[in-house]
Amino acid sequence: MNAIVRAICLCAALFLLPLQAARAQAVAGIFSPDHTLHVSVSLDGNGRPSYAVTRNGKPVIGDSRLGILLTDAPKLERNFTYAGAETNHHDHTWTQPWGEESTIRNHYNELRVHLTEMTPPGRRLDIVFRVYNYGIGFRYEFPDQKQLHDVHIGDELTEFDVAQPATAWWEPAGEWNRYEYLYNKTPLDQVSLANTPLTIHTADGLYMTFHEAALINYSSMWLRRVTGQRLKAMLAPSSEYAAKVIRTAPFATPWRMIEIATSPAALYADARLELNLNAPNKEGDVSWFKPYKYVGIWWAMHIGKWTWSTGPHHGATTKHAKEYIDFAAKNGFPEVLIEGWNTGWDGDWFANGKDFNFTQSAPDFDLKAVTDYARSKGVKIIAHNETGGDVANYEAQLEAAFDLYQKLGMDSVKTGYVADGGGIQLRGDDGKIYYAWHDSQAMSRHYLKVVTEAAKRHIAIDTHEPIKDTGLRRTYPNWVAREGARGMEYNAWGDPPNPPSHIPTIVFTRMLSGPFDYTPGVLSLVGKNGQRIQSTIARQLALYVVIYSPIVMAADLPENYAKYPKPFQFIKEVPTDWSETKVLNGKIGHYVTFARKDRNSEDWYLGAVTDNTRRTLPVTLDFLESGRTYTAEIYRDGAKADWKTNPFSIVIEKRQVRRGDKLTLTLAPGGGEAIRFVAGAK
Ligand code: NOJ
Ligand code: CA
Repeated sequence: MNAIVRAICLCAALFLLPLQAARAQAVAGIFSPDHTLHVSVSLDGNGRPSYAVTRNGKPVIGDSRLGILLTDAPKLERNFTYAGAETNHHDHTWTQPWGEESTIRNHYNELRVHLTEMTPPGRRLDIVFRVYNYGIGFRYEFPDQKQLHDVHIGDELTEFDVAQPATAWWEPAGEWNRYEYLYNKTPLDQVSLANTPLTIHTADGLYMTFHEAALINYSSMWLRRVTGQRLKAMLAPSSEYAAKVIRTAPFATPWRMIEIATSPAALYADARLELNLNAPNKEGDVSWFKPYKYVGIWWAMHIGKWTWSTGPHHGATTKHAKEYIDFAAKNGFPEVLIEGWNTGWDGDWFANGKDFNFTQSAPDFDLKAVTDYARSKGVKIIAHNETGGDVANYEAQLEAAFDLYQKLGMDSVKTGYVADGGGIQLRGDDGKIYYAWHDSQAMSRHYLKVVTEAAKRHIAIDTHEPIKDTGLRRTYPNWVAREGARGMEYNAWGDPPNPPSHIPTIVFTRMLSGPFDYTPGVLSLVGKNGQRIQSTIARQLALYVVIYSPIVMAADLPENYAKYPKPFQFIKEVPTDWSETKVLNGKIGHYVTFARKDRNSEDWYLGAVTDNTRRTLPVTLDFLESGRTYTAEIYRDGAKADWKTNPFSIVIEKRQVRRGDKLTLTLAPGGGEAIRFVAGAK
């Protein structure tokens, strides 16, 4: 069903007031469908627009400025008059082709405010608000007009003035390591320049996440704290132009969004706001993509056993590839990732992205033979395209490479952009090479170009060193996963490795933005040079339920899985596509428990992780179907398990459970628990 949008008179929800000249004066406002949240839009005596948000009448976002700085014309920020508003009510449910749940309700009230400059040239700007029961989105829309056709945006002046004292979880923006930082937890008034999603907890008990949705042909929004708790948008720079964004009217900016919840668990559920703010699927029938698990020639390089480069320890040889294909076929993994299969890895590949060739195999790797062998075993190969950040080189080869992969039956590509922030090389409009940010407008176009070229050939994309996720999987469902945070690789060689608090922090920050290719399942619990992974073995299993992605790796070496056949059984069985997701409990940075229902059976799965603290978590099995008995296959930390001293201690047991039963999860420091609830007859 298409969206049903009804324009109705929201008499109760809308109030329109005449513009008054003197002080900031509300000109329009709108409530959420349940009347909990309210957004008001004001103009001050100088015609400067602002907005404010209340929840049950209490300020959540104080008066916050709106506006756009232009590089070649006076800024769009003052001298506006209110030229009317329209409202809409929207309520419909849509289906995800794959995801954390099958259906999502999109229910909001919309307010479109028209602003016109009071003096010539009389430029017009619309600001559109969508108010949900659990958050808001708003964006600027540039109407078609002679007065402002080519729009050169120097920056956005959008503010978020948080009304109540708050604690923030945030990572830096505009830094060399892109999105791969541990999150800071500080008072909100100590944030400097932050990426989104940025999550806060207010003194009066609200949890809020600031982020953006539908980042298309635009530069990413960083958040700069200006004074007190006032955050201000700062767009990632362009390296080619003074303007950070260049567009032609009519167009709309990405949505600026704020999730507003009363618990961390609700915050996770409310992240559907981001998907709802994105446009519906533009790719039509995408049933050719099926969520899957994969193994691959990957961890061996990160721990230094094999190399990406050719030589005596080259990982991606035809021989190794066939062994991994055999392992995948034997254990039911549909896909195999192979890194280091192509030419360009020899020498300092970090610095020489220009050497990568995306169709030419390394001398000891026969791509045709490997894909033929995979096909004979019912397995597919994930192509790996590391660009070293040389996007100019990649774009020159993109179409030929994807044609080849399609011809050979490869249906997924993992891309990589290993270059420091600001170090992407791309070709400008003038043909010269520029050094760009991963999250610049030019790169937002590049990442999407890769996705749309892939879609034409029925190829799914998993982006590493990506631009941040803003929910584009709704519109482009073959953009199935990204990295964009510290993944398992940091446990191999990171200094420091990921601490136990990392996962319960990113669940409520990075993971609110979309699927994360974390690459879990390292049951051997050791990285490079003996570096310990700060995890128990049960926690590695729990990650399959806690971290969502439709494609999930079993990252460890086959010989390590052979040592732990019983825990490995859970990895083989756990699905990667869900019809329902519930967050049973959670405290940011400390613990979280998920329950998810398999899309293709009646089974449920549970995953819980904790920080460095041993804890017990009571859970009630009220998500199970009533009238049915389930066999709970429990993988839990042993009584004395501890990631530091006793990480391999695991208890695997079965018991019969029914809806409403209570379980107590017992998590070791750095531990976790995973449960499969196998549905019995009713
Ligand atoms: C960084 C990616 O995150 C990782 O998965 C990959 O193995 C290396 N780059 C090499 O491309
Ligand atoms: Ca990475």
